Amino acid sequence: MCGIVGYLGFQDPKKVIVEGLKRLEYRGYDSAGIAVIHDNKIKTVRAEGKLKALEDKLATENFNGHLGIGHTRWATHGAPVEKNAHPHRVGEISIVHNGIIENYLDIKRELLDRGAKINSDTDSELVAHLINEEVLKTQNLFQAVQKTLGRLVGAFSIVVIWEKSPDELVAFKDGPPLIVGLGDKENFIISDVQAALQYTKNYVYLEDREIVHIQNKEVRYFSADAKPIEKKVNHLNWGTEQIEKMGFKHFMLKEIYEQPRAVAAAIQPHLNPETHQIEIKNLNFKSSSKEVFNKIERILFVACGTSYYAALVGKYLIEKTSRVPVDVDVASEFRYRQPIIQKNTLVVTISQSGETADTLAALRLAKDLNTHTLSITNVPQSSIDREAEGHLYMNSGVEVGVASTKAFTSTLALLNLLALEIAKARGHLTVAAENQAVKNLLAVPSQLETVLAFDKYFSEAAEKLKEFKGFLYLGRGVSYPIAMEGALKLKELAYLHAEGYAAGEMKHGPLALIDSRMAIVVVAPTDDLIEKTVSNLQEAKARGGKIISIGTGENEALKSMSEYYLSLPVADWMTNPLIATVPLQLMAYHLADSLGLDVDQPRNLAKSVTVE
Ligand code: M6R
Repeated sequence: MCGIVGYLGFQDPKKVIVEGLKRLEYRGYDSAGIAVIHDNKIKTVRAEGKLKALEDKLATENFNGHLGIGHTRWATHGAPVEKNAHPHRVGEISIVHNGIIENYLDIKRELLDRGAKINSDTDSELVAHLINEEVLKTQNLFQAVQKTLGRLVGAFSIVVIWEKSPDELVAFKDGPPLIVGLGDKENFIISDVQAALQYTKNYVYLEDREIVHIQNKEVRYFSADAKPIEKKVNHLNWGTEQIEKMGFKHFMLKEIYEQPRAVAAAIQPHLNPETHQIEIKNLNFKSSSKEVFNKIERILFVACGTSYYAALVGKYLIEKTSRVPVDVDVASEFRYRQPIIQKNTLVVTISQSGETADTLAALRLAKDLNTHTLSITNVPQSSIDREAEGHLYMNSGVEVGVASTKAFTSTLALLNLLALEIAKARGHLTVAAENQAVKNLLAVPSQLETVLAFDKYFSEAAEKLKEFKGFLYLGRGVSYPIAMEGALKLKELAYLHAEGYAAGEMKHGPLALIDSRMAIVVVAPTDDLIEKTVSNLQEAKARGGKIISIGTGENEALKSMSEYYLSLPVADWMTNPLIATVPLQLMAYHLADSLGLDVDQPRNLAKSVTVE
C-alpha cells in the first residue's frame, strides 16, 4: 500500500510528483505529502485526506528545484492525520516509506534512549532518524542508507533525500514494489509505472534487497551489501489513454465498458481463429506445458478478494472439463496453515496487481515446497509474475478503479482457456468440443457488448436496491462465486451489507434473514442447475423474499417471481460467468454513484495490498 514518487530532472518536481501521485492514489488516500530541495533547503508540504488537499496547499507555494519525493498514504502505524503523513523529515534527511518496519518498537526505544525527539506515530519516521544519524557521521547518503538497512526488519520500500546533496536520491526495496523510470535527462523512482507513463516507457524493476542510487543523470544499482549489479531495462508499450478517464465519469465505469476489448485481448493470443483450436502461448514452464498438465494430480489456486472468486470459478471449470481435483485457498490463510502440497500439484496464483503481499508470500511458499507454479497477473514484471515459473497475462490494460472489474472477467476468460488446455492435454477434450468451446469464447466480447447496452436497466435495478437494508446474492454451480463477487462489489462500493451464498444453502440458515428489507439478488443463467435455483427461490419467495434476478433471455419462471428481472444473452455454461458479472458490477456502480460515494476510491481501501 502507499504510493511513492521520487524525481530528479529538469521539470518542476512539484508538478511531476503530484501528477505521479494522482496515478498512485489507488494505493492509498489517507494523506499525501511532498518534499523538494529548493535553494539547498528541504521544503515539505503535507496534508490529511486525499491528494486534492495537498494540491490546494501547494497552490500557494512557490518553491521548485529539480529533486523531490512524494507519497500517498494508506495508514498502517498511526492515524491518518497530518503529523503521520509522509515525507518524514529528520535533521538533514527526508524519506518516504511504503510497508511496515516490524522491529519499530526496539528502534523507537533505542532512539528515545539517545534523546531523539519523535514527532509522529509512524514507524517511517524512525527510519529517517537512523539515516540522519548515519549521514551526520559519514557525510555520505548512500552509505548512510546502506548502513541503516541492516537495522530494519519487515517489508518496506524507501526513498531518501539529503538536504546537503540536491542531486541525489537513494532508494531501497525489500517487499513493496519499487521501479526506476529512466527518462531523457530525468529519472523517477515509483511504486507503479503508471506514475511516470507520460514521461518514459523504460523501466527497471528492483528486486528485494536492491538499492538504487541516482546522482545527477547517473543511475546505479547495488545489492544490499553495496556490490554493484547490472539491471535489465524493460520497455513498456502502454499508451497514456490507459490512465485517463476518456470521458467516463469514473475509472470504474470506463473499465466496466472496456471489458469486451479486455476479454478479447486476454484470449486472442491463445486462440487460432481458423482452426478454432487453443494454443496457450508462452506459459514458459521449465518442461512443456503438455507434460506439466498431463502429470499434475491436483491444482491449488491461491488468491485474495475478487481474484479469489475468479479462482473459485476456475475450480468449477477445471474439475468438470479435465477431472483434475482443484482446491482454492485465500492466500492469507494458506500461508500460515502449513499447507500440504503433494508431489505433482500445480499452484496457480491469481493477482491483478501481481503485488498482493499474501498472494506473493503464498507463491514463495509453494516454490519452497518445490512444486510447479503458474501466475495469472495483469501487470507484467510485477513481483508475482517475475517469481512464478509459468505465466498467463490478463492483458486488460491498467485497472485504476479500486474495485476490480475488467481484470476479473479477463481472468475468467483465461481460466476457460486453462481448463480446456488441461482437458486437452489429458485427453478429455474432443476436437469438436474444443472447436465449440473456442467459438463460445470468441462470442464473449460481443455478448458483453450486448449486456452493456442494457445499462439503463441495471441503473433502474440499482434504484430498486436502495429500498433494502441487506442483500443476499445467490447462485449455484459456477454462478455461486459470481454471486460472491457481486456481493463484494456492493459491499466495497456502496458500503451495504451483502453476502454471497450458494442458493442451495438458504434453507440451512439464511432463510431466517428473509423479510421485506432483505433483497435477494440471484445469478441464474440457464444451465443444468437452473431448475434447482428456481426451486430455492420459491422457498425464499414463499417467505416474503424480494427477488432481483439475472437470467438468460426471457426466463418466464424466474421473471414471474422477481421484482425485477435482468436478461442475459444465451451463452455456454463456461462463459456465462463472464456475462453474468456485468449487471452485478453496474448495479453496484450505479447504486454507489447515486448515493454520492467515491466509486473509484472507496473508503478504507487501497487497490494494491502490499502489506499482509
Ligand atoms: O491485485 P489482486 O488481484 O491480488 O488484489 C486482490 C484483492 O485485493 C482485490 O481483488 C480486491 O478484493 C478488490 N478491491 C476487489 O474489487
